[in-house]
Amino acid sequence: MSDLLSRPTAALPTDKELVLKVIPMPADTNGNGDIFGGWVMAQVDLAGAVLPARIVQGRMATVAVKEFVFKQPVRVGDILSFYSSVVRVGRTSVTVDVEVYAERFATQGSYVKVTEALLTYVAIDGQGHPRPIPAQAPAAPGG
Ligand SMILES: CC(C)(COP(=O)(O)OP(=O)(O)OC[C@H]1O[C@@H](n2cnc3c(N)ncnc32)[C@H](O)[C@@H]1OP(=O)(O)O)[C@@H](O)C(=O)NCCC(=O)NCCS
Repeated sequence: MSDLLSRPTAALPTDKELVLKVIPMPADTNGNGDIFGGWVMAQVDLAGAVLPARIVQGRMATVAVKEFVFKQPVRVGDILSFYSSVVRVGRTSVTVDVEVYAERFATQGSYVKVTEALLTYVAIDGQGHPRPIPAQAPAAPGG
């Protein structure tokens, strides 16, 4: 058993919502055969948009991604689970915290935290300018 697989399993967050599950494929690897960091970042951006979309109710854009940390490598065949919670709702923006956990191909049911990030999305109008978040925005479950 490799060193990575022998590490203790991480506890999944109970204060966040599961917003995405995805399995990286060979086409998502870099020259070393590991998963390309940019692919993971794209998935985090997609997952991070789920809760803000409920609040923003319309077009939005990612304005900032902060504190992106890759804690462990991601491998082909891992099942990645993306958990998110809303940390701030401003006048025109929503900020979420996203944590990503991997179930290794050979050790299903055991989780390793592979990355986390803080992302901010801005509600925009038809011209791409910031617009106020609707007052009657629904509460974000789990957020
Ligand atoms: C998103 C965009 C419309 C915002 O326009 P802007 O003139 O920067 O807007 P503002 O300065 O009025 O800020 C709007 C909101 O974003 C927040 N914001 C702006 N820059 C931020 C940053 N670096 N980090 C966190 N939040 C930020 C502001 O705090 C504000 O939130 P609030 O109203 O809830 O307080 C504009 O920056 C844009 O079009 N960016 C490109 C978006 C894009 O293409 N994303 C995909 C990248 S490939």
